[in-house]
Amino acid sequence: MTMRISDRIDGERLWRRLMELARFGATDKGGVRRLALSQEEIPARACLVAWGRSFGLEPSSDAAANLFLTLGGREPHLPPVLIGSHIDSQPTGGKFDGAYGVLAALEAAQVISELPERPRRSIEVVAWMNEEGSRFAPGMMGSAVFTGKRRLEDILTIKDRDGCTVKDALESVLGAERALPRRPLGFPVAAFLEAHIEQGVLLQERGLTAGIVTGIQGKRTFRVEVIGEESHAGTTPRSARRDALTSAVAVVDALQKAMWDEADTVRFTIGMFNVLPNAPSVVPGKVVFSIDLRHNEQAMIQRLGDQVPAVCQAARGRCAVTVTELLYDAPLQFPASIRSRLSEAARRLGLSHMELPSPAGHDSRYLHYVCPTGMIFIPCKDGISHNEAESISPADAMAGARILAEAAYEMANQ
Ligand code: GLV
Ligand code: MN
Ligand code: MN
Repeated sequence: MTMRISDRIDGERLWRRLMELARFGATDKGGVRRLALSQEEIPARACLVAWGRSFGLEPSSDAAANLFLTLGGREPHLPPVLIGSHIDSQPTGGKFDGAYGVLAALEAAQVISELPERPRRSIEVVAWMNEEGSRFAPGMMGSAVFTGKRRLEDILTIKDRDGCTVKDALESVLGAERALPRRPLGFPVAAFLEAHIEQGVLLQERGLTAGIVTGIQGKRTFRVEVIGEESHAGTTPRSARRDALTSAVAVVDALQKAMWDEADTVRFTIGMFNVLPNAPSVVPGKVVFSIDLRHNEQAMIQRLGDQVPAVCQAARGRCAVTVTELLYDAPLQFPASIRSRLSEAARRLGLSHMELPSPAGHDSRYLHYVCPTGMIFIPCKDGISHNEAESISPADAMAGARILAEAAYEMANQ
């Protein structure tokens, strides 16, 4: 019997790399803090480049610091198959969200590079810039500008909470990688495949090894600013205060009520909340907070998101409120052709699997707009993610990489 490509996947090598990459930005609780374009990301990217070079991949990056590791195909002028995910993390993130997809892709590229003949198309491992969006909001910046869904000029001025711009952070990362060839921002792509941890419990509950992702739920994000007036905590009577925190609390309460749904299908989160100047004896002059709203039905996310500005205005009391919508991504479905290819690969390999939707967002969203795109999920312990305790098993990690390698190789030969 001939050996399959996926039989060559080295689960131990994949696991070792996962643990090594997790050292960049490692936290005391076993997680990772590797914010987009941070000083922790620079050596992590260099590590990916070194691993790729060790078996002949050619590194390059673009103006958005998307990082590519290319396994040249027999017909290198054809649009390549891209495989990968992201290596930035949440501030208290885990070792696997994103990193798994990049390292599974690297493992797949490595076994394909060891074949006697290269596939027809090039295969490129990619680490997209700033998927998480926690340092610079909104996320999925690298894939959004690569696919032309956002303009590079528009993201350059976005600041982190210390006032550092995306432009400056990009310069620091790309400056450290001056030796890498620079690619144009956005080039034709034949297909994109992303492996990722599920970040939910469906696979675990059913005891299955892999998920073939049907689509991604819709998401809208907003930035809300409540503007009052700073004043003395000891001398300003209640009647004279314009307390931004008091107003913000009322606004948050009104939003929670407006977004409440009996069926518990709406995902509504205020995850960032800043009080200014944040001093015990100053009546707060300003509050800035984020809204992350998600639903898998277009009509619902449209209706709820459209209510946000009016709900904020109605509850603002004596303060002023501004609401800025940062992102509106509709629910999407991946093409049936890619889903069936991935399911077929899992079936051939004897790996138990199911189709399931992704409530979390991924760079695959933006690639979906420009090329056939699909995703493979692997189980993630108790669905815990965006948490330092995130955990997966080496066997599941290997299984996901096997499906990825089979499908990427097939697609690179088309
Ligand atoms: C991605 O990390 C998301 O928030 O969905
Ligand atoms: Mn992710
Ligand atoms: Mn994430």
